Amino acid sequence: MTNSHNPKLRSRAWFDNPENVDMTSLYLERYLNFGLSLEELRSGKPIIGIAQTGSDLSPCNRHHLVLAERIREGIREAGGIALEFPVHPIQETGKRPTAGLDRNLAYLGLVEALYGYPLDGVVLTTGCDKTTPACLMAAATVNIPAIALSVGPMLNGWHKGERTGSGTIVWKGREMLAAGEIDDEGFIKLVASSAPSTGYCNTMGTATTMNSLAEALGMMLPGSAAIPAPYRDRQECAYRTGKRIVEMVHDDLKPSDILTIDAFRNAIVVNSAIGGSTNAPIHLAALARHMGVELALQEWETLGHKVPLLVNLQPAGEYLGEDYYRAGGVPAVVAQLIANGLIREDALTVNGKTIGENCRSATIEDERVIKAFDQPVREEAGFLVLSGNLFDAAIMKTSVISAEFRERYLSNPNDPEAIEGPAIVFDGPEDYHKRIDDPALGITSETLMFMRGAGPIGYPGAAEVVNMRPPAYLITEGVSALPCIGDGRQSGTSGSPSILNASPEAAALGGLALLETGDRVRIDLRKRTVNVLISDEELATRRAALEAKGGYAYPASQTPWQEIQRALVGQMNTGAILEGAEKFQRVAQTMGLPRDNH
Ligand code: FES
Ligand code: MG
Repeated sequence: MTNSHNPKLRSRAWFDNPENVDMTSLYLERYLNFGLSLEELRSGKPIIGIAQTGSDLSPCNRHHLVLAERIREGIREAGGIALEFPVHPIQETGKRPTAGLDRNLAYLGLVEALYGYPLDGVVLTTGCDKTTPACLMAAATVNIPAIALSVGPMLNGWHKGERTGSGTIVWKGREMLAAGEIDDEGFIKLVASSAPSTGYCNTMGTATTMNSLAEALGMMLPGSAAIPAPYRDRQECAYRTGKRIVEMVHDDLKPSDILTIDAFRNAIVVNSAIGGSTNAPIHLAALARHMGVELALQEWETLGHKVPLLVNLQPAGEYLGEDYYRAGGVPAVVAQLIANGLIREDALTVNGKTIGENCRSATIEDERVIKAFDQPVREEAGFLVLSGNLFDAAIMKTSVISAEFRERYLSNPNDPEAIEGPAIVFDGPEDYHKRIDDPALGITSETLMFMRGAGPIGYPGAAEVVNMRPPAYLITEGVSALPCIGDGRQSGTSGSPSILNASPEAAALGGLALLETGDRVRIDLRKRTVNVLISDEELATRRAALEAKGGYAYPASQTPWQEIQRALVGQMNTGAILEGAEKFQRVAQTMGLPRDNH
């Protein structure tokens, strides 16, 4: 038996501990069980976890079951040993009441797996919306060498010669259905056309966003986020990712070396340029807190708002995932941003090089899909951070707003026009679905639509329910959208310029809980404010009355996890993490090894 092991590898404490042979024998015998040999386990080779997020329950990530074979081959080729294990499944559109509930649960489970088992490094298989932040958050907490592998988007969807994009086609189809242009069967066919292959949503939804940002953060091999799932390049990338993690273990290159404040700031800038999802601020805040990096929500506006939209993908633009990859993906975007001084070039990435070294010379391969910096799809495409007497913080995505809307409400400094109108308030999506087409509500083109009870505590888990369509009678009159404001989230595939993620939520007695249908509300985008036009005294009276009633009512928890999450979760402006969990940081370094189990 060779003993040329690296004594620093944490897996040695399990498999090669001369001071505790009885425990070593116990640990060894069960990992021999599926065919590994004593020679391998005691060879001193790094043990690499493959955190598997794919399953039949998680079809967006299911292709990782195939890719894992190539990851393994890469690990083996570089002299490591692979141990694959499941991550709690998360699937955005299948999980009820919302996959938002599961990110923190998958995080917790993965922290335990990474810390409590003999792993020296890990490949994080990312993809569907919350799988990416859940994996990165856990890797940040444990802080063993980690590299992410995106499963990649689906191929482009097509219908009658037009690109149909994941999610975006649902929002469009439901308007067509409401207007009587298609029937139920036509609607389902149209939506199904957008999902032609394995992979995640092919639009710039939360999945493409979070994987692009994982690359921009430096946690994924350069150029790898955008490769479509079925492409052969994706298989090759899986192999290279497997090889690279073994080298990272030898170099002791950890998340804390990569996920610095510079990396987060780069990700914010990249998010604006790609037209990324409004879920990104929540997930990046969560990741930063678990990494111990201070990242203020306001940075999304100060660093991000001025950045132009360069990527012409649905919902803000026209194209889809395959086009994004062929046009150059993240490196082509980053190169444009570097040339204009917007990227902190020294931020280190998983390949051991800086983002500047990786991306500086990347070129745009198709200018219809990725635009040059001076010919963007849209100027000033980042988020606005809004506040007022209805909430302390909310996000508005400006990459999707029309030129006319922008001119009228946002860009013209000499004409301070605000959006003002009567509020219609819905308590949860059931309330909205039941009442939206009722003419008695009196919704007009002036109405502002509010959704509450949809936050991390209220829903629970914060659901993507804020983007609401207007009543059918308004759509037939040509009003396809009304301003929507709420304490829930919105799908990244939606093109609505909604005001989202309002914190604190109604269930935490934020100002939205005090709003009543018929109240006039004023949105002044230039001042970044949203205020209900009633006096502070009246608000205080309403608050006292609500508190006397026991607070804002929301449905009872249905599962143990719903109850636990509700008790511990924070608000979206600070990442909606389990408060208290953030004090456990870099546990592989700060906590030593877990105790022996027998
Ligand atoms: Fe899984 Fe969009 S639903 S990626
Ligand atoms: Mg979503």
